[in-house]
Amino acid sequence: VIRLLDEATIGQIAAGEVVERPVSVVKELVENALDAGATNIAVAIARGGMDSIDVRDDGCGIAREDLPLALRRHATSKLDDARGLERIATLGFRGEGLASIAAVAKVRISSRLAADQVGHAIEAAGEWVGAPQATAAPPGTRVEVRDLFGNVPVRRDFLRSPAAEFSRISSFLATLALGYPGVRFSLAHDEREVWAFPAAPSVEQRLAHVFGPAASGGLVEIDRADANVTVHGFVSKPGHDRPDRRMQVLFINGRLLRSTLLAGAWSAAYSTFAMSGRHAYGVLFLTLPPGGVDANVHPTKSDVRLRAANAVSDSVRRAIRSALEGRAAASAAGALGAPPARDVSFAPLDARSGAALPEPLFAHETAAEPARELRVLAQLDDTYILATDGYALVLVDQHAAHERVAFEAIARHHGDSKATEPLLVPYTIELDAAQCERFEASREALAEAGLEAEPFGERAYRIVATPAGYGARAFDVAGYLDDLGDEIAGLDARSRVWATLACHSVVRAGDPLEHAEMTALLARLVRCANPMHCPHGRPTIVRVEPEAIARMFRRT
Ligand SMILES: Nc1ncnc2c1ncn2[C@@H]1O[C@H](COP(=O)(O)OP(=O)(O)OP(=O)(O)O)[C@@H](O)[C@H]1O
Ligand SMILES: [Mg+2]
Repeated sequence: VIRLLDEATIGQIAAGEVVERPVSVVKELVENALDAGATNIAVAIARGGMDSIDVRDDGCGIAREDLPLALRRHATSKLDDARGLERIATLGFRGEGLASIAAVAKVRISSRLAADQVGHAIEAAGEWVGAPQATAAPPGTRVEVRDLFGNVPVRRDFLRSPAAEFSRISSFLATLALGYPGVRFSLAHDEREVWAFPAAPSVEQRLAHVFGPAASGGLVEIDRADANVTVHGFVSKPGHDRPDRRMQVLFINGRLLRSTLLAGAWSAAYSTFAMSGRHAYGVLFLTLPPGGVDANVHPTKSDVRLRAANAVSDSVRRAIRSALEGRAAASAAGALGAPPARDVSFAPLDARSGAALPEPLFAHETAAEPARELRVLAQLDDTYILATDGYALVLVDQHAAHERVAFEAIARHHGDSKATEPLLVPYTIELDAAQCERFEASREALAEAGLEAEPFGERAYRIVATPAGYGARAFDVAGYLDDLGDEIAGLDARSRVWATLACHSVVRAGDPLEHAEMTALLARLVRCANPMHCPHGRPTIVRVEPEAIARMFRRT
C-alpha cells in the first residue's frame, strides 16, 4: 500500500537532484523493479534515452488505486515513518523516484497485480497526472518515459551524444546485474537487443556473463564473516589486474555504490601482490545489519554512511588479503611442491588393453608430505636459476627472488638488533643536495630495516651497518634514491622504503652466483609468505610442466 509520508519524515530525507541524465531514470526504474521482486527486467532505450526509456518487470505490480499515489512525491509503500529510516531493507524509501521522473518527462505506467484479470495504466507529465484506465497488460509493471527534459532544455544541452548516454546506461545496468544474479536482465537500444544475462544460479556465472568467461577465470573467491559485516565476492588474481579502477564493483546490502574508503582498503590488500600502477578488479558484496548502514545521505542514494567504517574497511582488507595469501601459498605449493596428481585418463586405456597398470611414479607421496626439494641445476645468463623438482623445469628470477626474501626478512625483523650487521669497514657515500633530502627523509625507516647511516660531513653519510644477511653486497644508494618515489601498489611509506632497500641491496640480474648461493636463495624463497612475486608484483618463479615440454616437442 502506498502512503504519503508525514512532514517530519519528509524533512529527514536527503533531498536534491534525482534525475541528472538518462541513466538516472534507468536506475530509479530498475531499482523499483528489484524492490517489486522481479525475476525478469527488460530495458529498452531509444536514442540514448533521449527519445524513450522503457522498463518492464514481472514483479508484484501496482494496484489501480495506488497508481496516482505512485507518482506523488513523498508517497511510498517502503517506509512508514522516520524510525524506519534506520532499518531500510529496500532500495527505495523516499517516494521520489517516479515523481522526479514525471517532473521532467512524459511518463506512462501500466501495471497488473498477478491476482487481477486486467491491468491499469496511468499517464503523467510535469505537474499533470491523468486517471487510471483499464488496459490489457501482463502481470508486473511497465514504465515508459518519453521526451526526457523536454520541458528543461538546459538539461538536455548537458547531455552527451546518444551513444555516450547509452554506454553509461549499459555499463550501469551490467554492473548492477552482478548484484542480482537470479534476475534476468536484458538491454535493447534503438530496437536491437544489445545484451541479455539469463538468470544464473550463482554470482560466479553472472560474473562470467558480465566480465566474460576469460576474465572470470582470473578471479579468487573472497569469504569472511566478522562481527558486524560479512564480505563475499570475487577479486582478480595478481597478474589478472587492469590499468584502471573502474571494474572494482561494490555492493553494500544490495546497493551498488562507489566508496573511496573501500577502494583504499582494496588496494592496500593488494600491496606486494600486484604490479604497481595496476588495479585489481572484481566484485565485493558486503552485508551489514540494516542499522549499520545509513542510505539516507545523498539524493541519488549513490553513497551511504557506515556506522563502523573503519572496522568494515579493515574486514575488506583482511578478506582480500587472506584469500590472496591462500592462493599464493597454493600456487607456491604447486610450483615448488609435489607434482600434480597423475593423469587418470591413462587408466581406462591400460585397463582395456588388459596390461597391468604401471606403478604410479610418485606412489610414495601423499598430499600431506612436505614440498619436494628443488634441485639447482645451473645459472642461465647470470640472471635466472634453473632448477627442477624432478618433474617440472623451474626457472627463478634471481633478483626478484632475492628481493622477496630480503623484503620479508626486513618486514619481519624490523627494529630488531639481530636484523642489522655492523660493518667492519664502514664506507662513505656522497650525495647531492636533492638526494640528501630524500635520503634524510627515509633514514629512520632504513635504520629500522638495519641500514644505519651516520651523517659524515656535508652531503655525505657513512654506512656503519647493513641489513643482516646481505654481507658483501654494497647498498646501491643512487638506485635506491631514484626508485624511492615509485608507487608500489598499496604499500605504506615505510614498507616502500623497505621494498626499495631490498631491491637495491640484493643480487641483480647479471651477477654470477655460486651453486651454494643459489641453493640457499631457493631455500629461503620457499619459506616466504608470498614466494611467487617480488614486492613490486613481478613473478619470481615460472614453472614449465612436462605437458608444456611435450607440446614443444610435438608429442601431443
Ligand atoms: N516497478 C514497480 N513495481 C511495483 N511497484 C512499484 C514499481 N515502481 C514503483 N512502485 C510503487 O510506487 C511507489 C513509488 O515509487 P518511487 O520510485 O517513486 O518511490 P520509492 O521506490 O518508494 O522510493 P525512492 O524514491 O527512494 O525510489 C513505490 O513505493 C512502490 O510502491
Ligand atoms: Mg523507487
